[in-house]
Amino acid sequence: MFDQSKTINQKNAHYGLKSGKILTLDNVGVNFKNFNALSTIQMEIGQGEILFITGASGAGKTTLLRVLSGQLQPTKGRVQLLRPNAHMALVFQDLRLIENYSCEMNLMMAYDNSIYKNKNEFVYEMVEFANILKIRNRLNLKIKDANGGLKQKIAILRALLSRPDVIFLDEPTSSLDQENALKIFELLNFLNVKKGLTVVWASHDRDLIRSFSGRIIHLDGGRLIHAGHACFI
Ligand SMILES: Nc1ncnc2c1ncn2[C@@H]1O[C@H](COP(=O)(O)OP(=O)(O)OP(=O)(O)O)[C@@H](O)[C@H]1O
Ligand SMILES: [Mg+2]
Repeated sequence: MFDQSKTINQKNAHYGLKSGKILTLDNVGVNFKNFNALSTIQMEIGQGEILFITGASGAGKTTLLRVLSGQLQPTKGRVQLLRPNAHMALVFQDLRLIENYSCEMNLMMAYDNSIYKNKNEFVYEMVEFANILKIRNRLNLKIKDANGGLKQKIAILRALLSRPDVIFLDEPTSSLDQENALKIFELLNFLNVKKGLTVVWASHDRDLIRSFSGRIIHLDGGRLIHAGHACFI
């Protein structure tokens, strides 16, 4: 259980925001038939911030990510995207990779000639990221032959190679050990510092999130019950 003294009300839930908001939710609720998956969610995301969404299984993390990323219209309340031209990338829990393609072919799907000068520039970045995650020598493997951790790294790299302004990640390291999860965080943190990438990462694993730095919101039964800094949860 959380220490009640650390629980703050929603008016003060903006702790740690950098200047400038990119997204706000005002009194958002999501119902599936008669079931309240999210209730009265009041929150904002700052441009260039790293935000974690924690909560037990069924707490509403995926539903909140879907609302934040515009995939799901809330039943109640208002979602405001304050930079409508922001490019958003999503890494879903089910990854959505093409099983019969190699890792590299899956990554190549992120190539877009309107954001890269040419294919060489894209390949340079792909290799740079693959080296950081230490998977450079496994890019020829087909997804169907890859282990769960490699698949997660490919899904994350594919999203990053689309050069998003905001990346939403749903349990992105569930098949990775702590050391590899830290590598993912370090890459995201590097892009956050270098390019102002906004990161929104959902996870049920509080021990893992505690080892990172960033703002955190905690969901319980579809309600936002805590906001603070990752290292204090
Ligand atoms: N499309 C849907 N129809 C009906 N109920 C749903 C739907 N999507 C989610 N729910 C329910 O809403 C609640 C929140 O689900 P959600 O997937 O957001 O939780 P979660 O925190 O992401 O869980 P997990 O950690 O297991 O991924 C759950 O009780 C789930 O069964
Ligand atoms: Mg989920």
